[in-house]
Amino acid sequence: MVKKEYILAIDEGTTTARAIIFDHSGKKIASARHPIRQILPNPGWVEHDANEIWNAVQTTIATTLIESGIKPAQIDSIGIASQRETTVVWDKKTGLPIHNAIVWQSRQTSALANDLIKNGYEDEIHKKTGLIVSPYFSATKIRWILDHVDGAQERAEKGELLFGTINTWILWQLTDGENFLTDYANASRTMLFNINDLKWDDELLELFNIPKAMLPEVRSNSELFGVTKNYHFYGSEVPITGMTGSQQASLFGQMAFEPGMVKNTYGTGAFAVMNTGHTPALSDNNLLTTIAYGINGEITYALEGSIFVAGAALQWLRDGMRIVKHTPDTDAAAKRSTDHNEVYVVPAFSGLGAPYWDDKAHGTVFGITRGTTDNDFIKATLQAIAYQTKDIIDTMSSDSEIPIEVLKVDGAATANDYLMQFQSDLLGIPLQVSSELETTSLGVAFLAGLGSGYWKDLDDIKKNHQTGTVYEPKMEEKVRKNLYDGWREAVAATMAFKH
Ligand code: G3P
Repeated sequence: MVKKEYILAIDEGTTTARAIIFDHSGKKIASARHPIRQILPNPGWVEHDANEIWNAVQTTIATTLIESGIKPAQIDSIGIASQRETTVVWDKKTGLPIHNAIVWQSRQTSALANDLIKNGYEDEIHKKTGLIVSPYFSATKIRWILDHVDGAQERAEKGELLFGTINTWILWQLTDGENFLTDYANASRTMLFNINDLKWDDELLELFNIPKAMLPEVRSNSELFGVTKNYHFYGSEVPITGMTGSQQASLFGQMAFEPGMVKNTYGTGAFAVMNTGHTPALSDNNLLTTIAYGINGEITYALEGSIFVAGAALQWLRDGMRIVKHTPDTDAAAKRSTDHNEVYVVPAFSGLGAPYWDDKAHGTVFGITRGTTDNDFIKATLQAIAYQTKDIIDTMSSDSEIPIEVLKVDGAATANDYLMQFQSDLLGIPLQVSSELETTSLGVAFLAGLGSGYWKDLDDIKKNHQTGTVYEPKMEEKVRKNLYDGWREAVAATMAFKH
C-alpha cells in the first residue's frame, strides 16, 4: 500500500495556473506553473478560454508530478483555490463553454451594474451579499452571457446550462461532470448568495432572471467534494477535500484564524482581508463583507478591501516610465533617494478603490521640484502602495471596531525591503512576511488536509507555523502623521482634478 504522504494544491489564478505539492510539515515539495492567455476583445473587457484553463491545470499537475517523481497514489487529497468571480457558463451534456469566461476584472457589464444602482438596489444587495454593486462580481456576468449567446436564456431555463466560477469548473472536469459544487467563499462573491442564511437568494435570482437550475450546490470549504476520475489523474482516484477563492485561501495559509488578524497580498493589485469572526460586519465605507471560510458547520466572515494598483505601479515604472530595468531595482533606488518624502504619486490608473471609490480619478504627482530625481519618484511610487494599504487597514479597523496589531503579508512585493519597512513605519505595527510565499496554495492545502483528516484540526496546522521576516515600526508618530496627512491631501486634490 502506497503511503498517502502529500497534499496537492491547485491554484488557478488570473495570470497563471499553479500546482504545488506540500508535505505534512507544510513544506513545499514541488511546483509547476502555466500561463493563462488574456483575451481582450474590447477596451476594459477581459476574458479567458475555460478549456485552456482546464488544459493549463492538467499540464501543471502532470509537470509537478513528473518533475518531482511523486506518484499520483501518494497524494492524500487535492485542494482547489481559484481566481474568484470569473464566470463560466457551459453545456451540461457536451461540457463545452457557450462563451469565453468573463474575468473578474472585466468591465463589460458596467452598464448593468449602473442600472442596478440607479434603480436603488444597492442597499438590499449589500445587506444580503455583503458586496457593493459592481461588474466585478459574477451575477451581471452571467446575465451578460445569457443575453449575448443565442437561445442561452431558454436553454438555461430548461436546465441545459451550468454556471460555475473557476473552482466549480475545475472540480466538474476532474470528476468528469459527476460533481457540480461550489464553496461558501466562492459563492459569497457571486452577488447571488445570501451570506446571512447561506443560501442562493431567490429574490436576487429573480432580479437577475437567472434560473436556479444553473447554480452549483454550495458546500463548506473543507469536506469531500468528489473524487478524481482515474483517467483524469494518471490512474488514481484522489479525493478533492478543500475548495476556496484565492484571497480567502491566502488568509487561511497565513493562519489568520482569529478575529482581527489581517493579511495583505501584494500582487498586481493588493488584496487585504481581515478575519472578523462568526458574525458578518457590514462596512460603512464600501469594504466588502465576505465569507472567509466555513469549516465544521461554523462560518467565519471577513472584511476585504482591494487596491487596484500595487505591483502594477512598479510595472509602470519599468514599462511605461522606463526608469527601472527590473521591478526589484526599486528597492535600492528608493534607498538612494535623499528627499524628505515631499513627493507624492497617486497611481489612480483605473480610478480609486476603497475607501474613496472614484471611478473617474486619474493618476497624479505632487511636490516635484527642480531637484527631484528618478530615485525620489520611485520612492514615492513605492510609498503610494503603503499609503493605499494604510487607507484600507484603518478603514477595516474602524468598520469592525477591532484593533489590528500585526499585518501578515505575502506576494512578490514583500521582497522589497524598503516597501516593507515603510509599510510597518506608516501603520505603526509589525509586519510579518509569510515564510511560504505561495500562501494561496498552502491555504487550500490546509483546507484539503483538514477535510481528509491528514491534519486533525487547526491546532495541528498551527504546528507548521514558521515566522518569516518581521519588520518593526521605527518611525516617530509625528513624522508618520505628517506623511499621511500629505497623502490624504494628495488624494483629495486628485479627486478634485477632473479635467
Ligand atoms: O477577486 C479576484 C481574485 O480572486 C484574484 O485572483 O488568484 O489572480 O489573485 P488571483
